[in-house]
Order: sequence, then structure tokens, then C-alpha cells
Amino acid sequence: MIRIRSELPEDVEAIYSLNQEAFEGTAEANLVNNLRTSNAMTLSLVAIKNNEIVGHIAFSPVTIEYDRATVNAVGLAPMAVSPEFQRSGIGSQLVEEGLNRIRTAGHDLVVVLGHPEYYPRFGFVPAKKYGIRWEHDVPEEAFMIKELREGALKEVRGTVKYRPEFNEV
Ligand SMILES: CC(C)(COP(=O)(O)OP(=O)(O)OC[C@H]1O[C@@H](n2cnc3c(N)ncnc32)[C@H](O)[C@@H]1OP(=O)(O)O)[C@@H](O)C(=O)NCCC(=O)NCCS
Repeated sequence: MIRIRSELPEDVEAIYSLNQEAFEGTAEANLVNNLRTSNAMTLSLVAIKNNEIVGHIAFSPVTIEYDRATVNAVGLAPMAVSPEFQRSGIGSQLVEEGLNRIRTAGHDLVVVLGHPEYYPRFGFVPAKKYGIRWEHDVPEEAFMIKELREGALKEVRGTVKYRPEFNEV
């Protein structure tokens, strides 16, 4: 039985350890701390199993820029599930709950850089299809976007920029 809830102040250490373990390094764990310090997490959810944090997902603000127009959107990153509990649906629950909450909060678009076999199941499509690219060069199928309001993708194109904290990863 998994419970998903927003992070609480007392979760900070467990979230750090979880990211460190899942990513086998401290870069993503530090990124989460830096986003939190900058008050730049749109949403931070944890997955709880037997009173322990076994999953975490963060969303932060991004911009999509074209000429002088800027559209605000949200980026999904990072996401981590404890290696012991991977491939049992916890990551999917975090994504679904995160997307629902982001949509309810009024956001229209969400982007993700990640496994191209994983995110399409939640409705993400390659961003390039819509004339949207990440500011850095990545394999085009790895940068994906999803609209949370019908028609939102028709209204935008351009270059996606994440928060500066991501430049340190
Ligand atoms: C990616 C991750 C968050 C998925 O969480 P999860 O709880 O295992 O995901 P779910 O159980 O909901 O879904 C499992 C599916 O994820 C996909 N998946 C998981 N890890 C994957 C990987 N390293 N590469 C590609 N696909 C992967 C598989 O398609 C798997 O489906 P299958 O079991 O049918 O083969 C988790 O594996 C993780 O923490 N990995 C290390 C950190 C990481 O890479 N984070 C993502 C950064 S964008």
C-alpha cells in the first residue's frame, strides 16, 4: 500500500538519501535541495510505504521562449524510486498524482527529459514534433512534452529553459 503526499520539512533528509541512492551520486539530491532553497519547486511529492519514503518527484518552473514571447510551463525532474522498490508502479503513481495536481493548479504544459520508453505511457510526446526544443542538445526523443489543457500545444513553440539550479547538475 503506497501513500502519496506533499513533502514536509521533516522529509528533507530522507528525500536527499533516496535521490542519492537511486541516482548513485549526489547531483540530483543536491539539485532538489538547491531548488527547495530557492523556493523553486512547483510541487514536491513523496511516496510512503510502511512509514518510509520510497519515492520522490519534483516539478519546477520552466519557460518556453520564442522571439520575445515567453510561455510559462513546468518541468518534471528529478524523480526517484528506491532501487529496492523499482518496477512496482510507485514511479507511475508519483507521475499520475503529480500531473493531476499540476493540472488542478492551473498549469497547461509539462516537459520532461527522460527515458523515451517510460514517459509516453503518461501522454508525453516528443517535444520536437511541436517545434519545442530544450536549450541543450539531447537525443530528440528524450525531451518530451504533455499538454494539461486541450489545445495548449497549438499555442506555443520555442526553446525550453529550466531553472539555473539545473545548470549545476
Ligand atoms: C525511473 C524510475 C523513477 C521509475 O520508477 P519505478 O517505480 O521503477 O517505475 P514504475 O514501476 O512505475 O514503472 C516501471 C517502468 O519504468 C520503466 N523503467 C524503469 N527504469 C527504467 C530505466 N532505467 N530505463 C528505461 N525504462 C525504465 C520500465 O519501462 C518499467 O516498465 P516495465 O516494468 O514494464 O519494464 C526509477 O526506475 C528510478 O528511480 N530510476 C533511477 C533514477 C532515474 O533514472 N530517474 C528518472 C530521471 S528522469
